Formats: sequence, structure tokens, C-alpha cells
Amino acid sequence: MSDYQTFTKSIKEKTGIDLNLYKEVQMKRRLTSLRDKKGFKDFSSYFNALASDQELLSEFLDKMTINVSEFFRNSARWKVLEKKILPELLKRQSHLKVWSAACSTGDEPYTIAMMLSEHIDLSKVSILATDIDDKILERAQKGIYTERALKEVPKSLKDKYFTYENSLYTIDARFKKAITFKKHNLLSDPYPSGFDLIVCRNVLIYFTEEAKTEIYHKFSRSLNNNGVFFVGSTEQIFSPESYNFRVLDTFFYQKND
Ligand SMILES: C[S@@+](CC[C@H](N)C(=O)[O-])C[C@H]1O[C@@H](n2cnc3c(N)ncnc32)[C@H](O)[C@@H]1O
Repeated sequence: MSDYQTFTKSIKEKTGIDLNLYKEVQMKRRLTSLRDKKGFKDFSSYFNALASDQELLSEFLDKMTINVSEFFRNSARWKVLEKKILPELLKRQSHLKVWSAACSTGDEPYTIAMMLSEHIDLSKVSILATDIDDKILERAQKGIYTERALKEVPKSLKDKYFTYENSLYTIDARFKKAITFKKHNLLSDPYPSGFDLIVCRNVLIYFTEEAKTEIYHKFSRSLNNNGVFFVGSTEQIFSPESYNFRVLDTFFYQKND
């Protein structure tokens, strides 16, 4: 077994995270650079240090997860959600159950909550927001952002739903109430079900083809009939029909009846 393979095995035993389900070339490059920066010559000495140093372990988890996010990321797609997909969903039902999977710092579930609140009373909405990374979920729950994260937020929403202080924006507390943040590993935890909309963007690109196939099946089972799956702008599904999906629009899939 190579130094890297032994490392992935030990990481799985220690954290439950299976690095082999992430694309190896990218992951290995990222972790090698971190390991070198920390001054370890191989993965086995790096793991020994990680195993006894909580801070080093947390830095490693941070690096492997890539937390970049922003509100209304790829804003044209959010317009499609608002103008085309949402009206159809709301025609069929008065309550909505939504899952923002791999939600990072919360920009995505708050975007969903803000958008929905313009069309439906938030008491009729429940949003589950999950991520593998505990630390990022703590930040998400605080709902505090820099200007950069808000660059795509329309001015009207920014004025209405954020308070600005000391160069930081805090999201209105009503949105925090609509969202339940929870730790969840898409590669190993059981999937919750009964959703009308699942948003999972900019994480599937890091996974192997086999892992993605499995995840698409699971998301499909998690959706109600006619529920919608919204993916990232480089994450089109190759053969949606194999997961009981049909294409509604680019990057939007609907589960068949
Ligand atoms: C690039 S961010 C995407 C954030 C947001 N969805 C967006 O599009 O802006 C990727 C997120 O995926 C999370 N992640 C990585 N592996 C995961 C896994 N196995 N299960 C759940 N979340 C994971 C990371 O912690 C990170 O917060």
C-alpha cells in the first residue's frame, strides 16, 4: 500500500471520511501541498502528527473540504429557480420542504430562504442545511458575511434583510429560524427524505464518478415525486433518466411521478 493509501485508510478510521471517494489527483495535490507547508516529508509522519494534534487535524479538514461560497452563486440560475421552477412548485403545494446539501458557510440556504420569503410565508417552509464540516456549520449559523459574499445580492434584498456594522453584514434572524443546520456526510450518512427541492451545488465535482452515481440515486429517493434537484453550473448529470429524473432546465432536474 502506498504512503498516500495508508494515509487515506487511517483518515477513514479516525474521522469516517473516505478520501478515496474524492477525485484522487486533485485531492492528493491539495493535501501534499498542505503537508509540505506543515513541514512533513511523507503522509505517514503527517498522520501521526494529526492524530495527536486537534488543531492540525482541523486545519487538514478545512483544506480538504474547500468552503468557498457566496449568495446567489451563478445568479442567472437562481433567476431560473425563482421565475420558472418555483412558481410550478408553489402551484402544486402550499408548504415546501427544502434541502441545501453541502451548504458551506450558509450563503446558499439563506439565499433560498430569502428568495422563498418573497413568494411564500416562511412559516410554510422548512429548510435543512447540511455540511460535513462542523466548523463551517457554526459559521453558517451565525449568518455574518463580508461584502464579497453578497456581491450578487440585489440591493433591495440587501437593504431589507441584512444589517451592516463594522464592515460586516448580518442576516435577518427570521431566516435563521427557517433553517435547521446539521452535520451530514453525503458519502456515508443516511439520506433524509420527503423534499420538494434539493439544492446541491459545487461539491459533486470533487467526487469520483462511482460516488456521484450513488449520490444521484440517493437524492432521487430523497425527493418527492415532481420534486426538483438543482445542481452547480459545471455539474450537469450525464444520463438523468437513469435516476428517474427529467431535465426541467439546464442544471435543474425533476423527479418523475
Ligand atoms: C465549494 S463548497 C459549496 C458550497 C455551496 N453549495 C455553494 O455552491 O456555494 C463545498 C462544500 O462541500 C462540503 N463537503 C465536502 N465533502 C462533503 C461530504 N462528503 N459531505 C457533505 N459535504 C461535503 C465542504 O465542507 C464545503 O462546505
